[in-house]
Amino acid sequence: MVRLELKRAAGFLPEDWLSGRLDALKDAAEKLRTGSGAGGAFTGWVTLPEDALNGEELPRVKAAAKRIQEQSKVLVVIGIGGSYLGARAVYELLGKGEGGVELLFAGNSLSTDDLMGVIRAIGGRDFSVNVISKSGTTTEPAVAFRVFKELLEKRYGKAGARERIYATTDGERGALCAAAEQEGYERFLVPDAVGGRYSVLTAVGLLPLAAAGVDVDGLLSGALAERNVLAVGGEDNAAWRYAAARSALYEQGKNIEVLASYEPSFRMFTEWWKQLFGESEGKEGKGIFPAGVSYTADLHSMGQYIQEGRRALFETVVWFERSRETLAVPSQPGNADGLEFLAGKSLSFVQEQAMEGTALAHADGGVPNLRLTVEAVSAQQTGALLYFFEYACGLSGYLLGVNPFDQPGVEAYKKNMFALLGKPGYEQRREELLGKL
Ligand code: PA5
Repeated sequence: MVRLELKRAAGFLPEDWLSGRLDALKDAAEKLRTGSGAGGAFTGWVTLPEDALNGEELPRVKAAAKRIQEQSKVLVVIGIGGSYLGARAVYELLGKGEGGVELLFAGNSLSTDDLMGVIRAIGGRDFSVNVISKSGTTTEPAVAFRVFKELLEKRYGKAGARERIYATTDGERGALCAAAEQEGYERFLVPDAVGGRYSVLTAVGLLPLAAAGVDVDGLLSGALAERNVLAVGGEDNAAWRYAAARSALYEQGKNIEVLASYEPSFRMFTEWWKQLFGESEGKEGKGIFPAGVSYTADLHSMGQYIQEGRRALFETVVWFERSRETLAVPSQPGNADGLEFLAGKSLSFVQEQAMEGTALAHADGGVPNLRLTVEAVSAQQTGALLYFFEYACGLSGYLLGVNPFDQPGVEAYKKNMFALLGKPGYEQRREELLGKL
């Protein structure tokens, strides 16, 4: 269960930060439950934990994951945005499980060097490909898929390649769906009612994670437990409180939220969170700008700005109560570094004091500090965190008065890129742009 603590933010919140928002929160929760709000057709993720656990797709996902493990040492996961961030976030946080393949990620940029780096990283090892795209027309993954398909065909022949390609795509529409049908790739679904950034608990995230040996049942059961907790609305609901606190701080001009973690392996989770909140709330000239830091490393870089820069920030710390392993600080004769007072203490204890000290310093410096605590880095707790943030984001978007489930702004760069690349149908835009270059 995710717990929210506001001790270091309380001084910044107006008296009615929660009471003044209870009606709006109730309304938002009802919209999420019934799909009756803006973008309601994309609230299928709300019931996803139980739908996935009881559905027909999960056994298929597990069977395919087993096959991938038997045929390959590496799975190249091709996708961008919501079609890769969730899987990468969980993979980097939890790591590879027993018998799992290594995941390499491609198609999330247009960098030649990055793509060649993935090819080099595969080396002579056997590999399979999971191409993930709801639309099937997104340029970055489509280009990368061409490259890896060619590579697979050269190495394994056309029939062999077909056996190693897994396509996760839209149910009926979409270019990738048609290609998968035609070529006979094994196909998995991105449900219609689930948008990219809310799709980690569908085959989009579950297939690569299962192939990597991650405990996907644990992930889903953790998400389900969190869903059951959050389904009970009211003042004690941690997602309601988080959404209300964010909204109250935003109204006071705190329009940048810095998500901080003390686990370096949380870095990609922060990227997932940035997409979730950035794409859901950043529209119509509104929205909190989601930023991220990794402590304690970033206390030696971004820490300066957070302590003393523009006071437009608030900070949300994701804190894992227990580390998975234990390590004590060794004793050192001579005490050259002056740290002998720490000898024998656990590194986790040192980390906790750093976290408490930082929260106090940042709050003293004018940065409200919210804390989200989970027990440990585990599949269950990760599932709980994913669901907590998705649910809080849906509530938060409705409090802000936007549709949290669309992303109209993402199209602008695509149109210009296609025009500059000379895609048929974009001739007029191309003329306009060339005049500006
Ligand atoms: O959240 C979203 O909807 C986006 O980030 C998409 O996932 C991303 O643009 C990739 O789209 P597609 O899956 O159609 O390739």
